[in-house]
Amino acid sequence: MRLLVTGATGQLGSELARKLTGLGHEVFAPDPDDLDLLDPVRVAATIREQRWDWVINCAAYTAVDKAESAAEQAFVINRDCPGEMARSVAGYGGRMLQVSTDFIFSGDQRCPYTETDIPKPLGVYGRSKLEGEQVVLEMLPDATVLRTAWVYGVYGHNFVKTMLRVAAEGRPLRVVNDQMGTPTWTADIVMAIVALVEQQAGGTYHFTAAGQASWYGFASAILEDAARIGFPVNTDAVVPILTSEYPTPARRPAYSVLDTRKIEPLLPSPPPEWRDSLNNMLKELATCADCL
Ligand SMILES: NC(=O)c1ccc[n+]([C@@H]2O[C@H](COP(=O)([O-])OP(=O)(O)OC[C@H]3O[C@@H](n4cnc5c(N)ncnc54)[C@H](OP(=O)(O)O)[C@@H]3O)[C@@H](O)[C@H]2O)c1
Repeated sequence: MRLLVTGATGQLGSELARKLTGLGHEVFAPDPDDLDLLDPVRVAATIREQRWDWVINCAAYTAVDKAESAAEQAFVINRDCPGEMARSVAGYGGRMLQVSTDFIFSGDQRCPYTETDIPKPLGVYGRSKLEGEQVVLEMLPDATVLRTAWVYGVYGHNFVKTMLRVAAEGRPLRVVNDQMGTPTWTADIVMAIVALVEQQAGGTYHFTAAGQASWYGFASAILEDAARIGFPVNTDAVVPILTSEYPTPARRPAYSVLDTRKIEPLLPSPPPEWRDSLNNMLKELATCADCL
């Protein structure tokens, strides 16, 4: 198949482009400068011209806090451009997968969110991503929307790498313990995307690893596993704090665990436990000299 993967300099896009290429597909994974989602008209025209079988949109304005003061930019990248991409794809009968987020939910619930639970984003990022999903499905009703959460990977910037850096420097770590979610490795999300693409599955799906943790629990696991694998860990302990002790411009959901039962029958294997995937990712990271 011929596929466009956007966001190929980011965590998920880079891992997905590598995997799809390895599977023998013809993958176009442009630099953001060559396909700028701030220019929806140009992006739409390129898609109309190239007529990719699948457009997989991993690009996004992902700076959750900065989005609060850059709403216009966030909405162009996360809503307007995906909408135009979907309109183009619909014009020639192609397929599109839009990656979305747990941040479309308010976090008021205390059981995992299903695909039919009512979204209620708390901030600009979540609102822009939710409206992005909606406009993509409006333009292309058989589009695929894949919501995931707490993403980390070997490529790009993420919480795992930040924790490793701070721990190596021996600085103290204070991490919030009252926000629950599921840390999810990009390699596992890629497995889910490949399954959806191969089965031409349209509609909205949730995918994360199995289980749940707080950011504090996640950070503690990173340090424990990293030390065992041989990363330098010079920080004694992680200190749990409350969200109220770490004020940020954007509010975040206190609970954003996603229910993955809908996608599971389409997957080659059930979602792995988040801790197992963390371990596998750290082992892979340990072998990559340029990835930290
Ligand atoms: N990170 C998470 O915890 C998380 C959680 C749930 C869902 N998601 C969703 O998962 C998807 C992938 O996230 P990620 O973690 O891989 O994000 P990421 O590492 O921040 O990568 C985002 C990608 O989008 C690109 N991008 C940003 N603005 C662009 C523009 N104007 N034109 C073209 N490309 C642009 C970035 O390019 P540059 O390299 O130039 O910045 C980068 O390649 C996104 O849809 C995100 O909303 C992420």
